[in-house]
Amino acid sequence: MTMHERQQQNLGVVSGLLMQMFGRPKGLLGRLGGIILARTKRDFIQWVIPLLEVHPDSKVLEIGFGPGVAIQILAATASTGFVAGVDYSHEMVEQARARNAKAIESGLVELQYGSVEKLPFADDTFDRTLAINSLQVWFDAMAGLREMRRVMTVGGKIALGFNRSSGQSSTGLTEMLTEAGFIDAHLVKTEAGFCVLAIK
Ligand SMILES: C[S@@+](CC[C@H](N)C(=O)[O-])C[C@H]1O[C@@H](n2cnc3c(N)ncnc32)[C@H](O)[C@@H]1O
Repeated sequence: MTMHERQQQNLGVVSGLLMQMFGRPKGLLGRLGGIILARTKRDFIQWVIPLLEVHPDSKVLEIGFGPGVAIQILAATASTGFVAGVDYSHEMVEQARARNAKAIESGLVELQYGSVEKLPFADDTFDRTLAINSLQVWFDAMAGLREMRRVMTVGGKIALGFNRSSGQSSTGLTEMLTEAGFIDAHLVKTEAGFCVLAIK
């Protein structure tokens, strides 16, 4: 094996481990990844959520909620509405359910295992949707965005936030949202990352 081939192999191993920890958290590494996400992403999440302009009676859907930190913040704001989440990791569903146990018990929050391309909700259900550091690992980002749009009400707002370390480039994202059928797509930047916002 040449040095280049060995380097490529090592890079493959590292990206596989990162995917297992953070991308689609699985097993022991995934659980650890969830703990790290909960400790390190709160500030960025707190920057993204106000951009979405959630109201007390908003119906909000988060895709890829991870350990459920954003769900907790959203539930405090949409206190007379409804907050739902879908995540493609059993480990994250477990951690997020534990973090939001009270709100789940009261019926304010509902968290499910699943994938963004096939959401278990009727058309026109949510007036706010978001995904933070998640779209970059979806199986089919365009199918996911179209499916999020389907479950949104007309005039509803979507936010896609990305930390600088997410690996997602901001280039082409507003065009993607427009192609998925959204309007008024625009980009907002901060030192820690960026967020694209649009309207159904
Ligand atoms: C990097 S974590 C981000 C977690 C959280 N949003 C945060 O910022 O701390 C990515 C999350 O997206 C979820 N995810 C990946 N692919 C998904 C898919 N196709 N549908 C729904 N969730 C997905 C993962 O399971 C994981 O919880």
